[in-house]
Amino acid sequence: MWRYYRALRFAALDLCFGLASLFFNPYRMCRKFLEKRGEGEVHAYGETPLTTFQTLATAAKLQSDDHYVELGSGRGKTCLWAAYFVGCSVEGIEWIPLLATLSQLFARLFRLPAHFHCQSIADADLSKASVVYLYTLDHAPELLAPLRSLRPGARLITISEPIEGFELLETVPVHFPWGETDAYIQRKCELPGPKGPGFRRPDEISPHALVPKDFKGRQVPCRNLIDSSANSAVNGRAPVQYT
Ligand SMILES: C[S@@+](CC[C@H](N)C(=O)[O-])C[C@H]1O[C@@H](n2cnc3c(N)ncnc32)[C@H](O)[C@@H]1O
Repeated sequence: MWRYYRALRFAALDLCFGLASLFFNPYRMCRKFLEKRGEGEVHAYGETPLTTFQTLATAAKLQSDDHYVELGSGRGKTCLWAAYFVGCSVEGIEWIPLLATLSQLFARLFRLPAHFHCQSIADADLSKASVVYLYTLDHAPELLAPLRSLRPGARLITISEPIEGFELLETVPVHFPWGETDAYIQRKCELPGPKGPGFRRPDEISPHALVPKDFKGRQVPCRNLIDSSANSAVNGRAPVQYT
């Protein structure tokens, strides 16, 4: 964590987050918001440690020409990390108004290419996204519906469980304050039909491969899983190092 403080502007940004959380505690705000909505599980807030997020960004080959969208961006720390250290354009989707406002304020203050929308994940427009991060407990069908608008080839990062209908590229063991889990780097499949290089018919796919399904639960022919070694290339990109 401290390694990011060598970047003084980011250290100042993190200090602002710390000061703001004295007055606007995101855990309490999220609990109150969910209580008001009458949700059963109200302790749903949590943050991705920045070191874990860096591991995920590296595995997903997040680069400066990507358009990164975070579904449920919380107070926007990981979004602003991506905007600062990767330099990609960033959108955060967050339904708690004050969290979305604070994130946008910090993005403006530190002149980072990030925009935050106060809306439900269910209404997110993902047509421009090339990398999407989803870390919520809730994988209800209406929250997953916007993923249908992703372009083929777009990468999706999820925590603890993969999403059906996506090609699994890599499983990454990650650390969260609540324990160890796996993150899944996935890719939106090409449309079914004859493919270019790398396409395999379903009968050529290894029995160990995850056979993706579409949103109606029908199996979709998709490229086979690619090697999940750290050096595997996504969209022909080399592994990335952020300093
Ligand atoms: C577990 S936190 C993750 C925060 C941040 N993405 C991170 O990784 O540090 C989940 C966030 O998603 C938001 N969220 C949950 N369901 C949502 C929905 N349907 N629409 C918009 N935001 C939602 C919550 O308010 C919370 O801020």
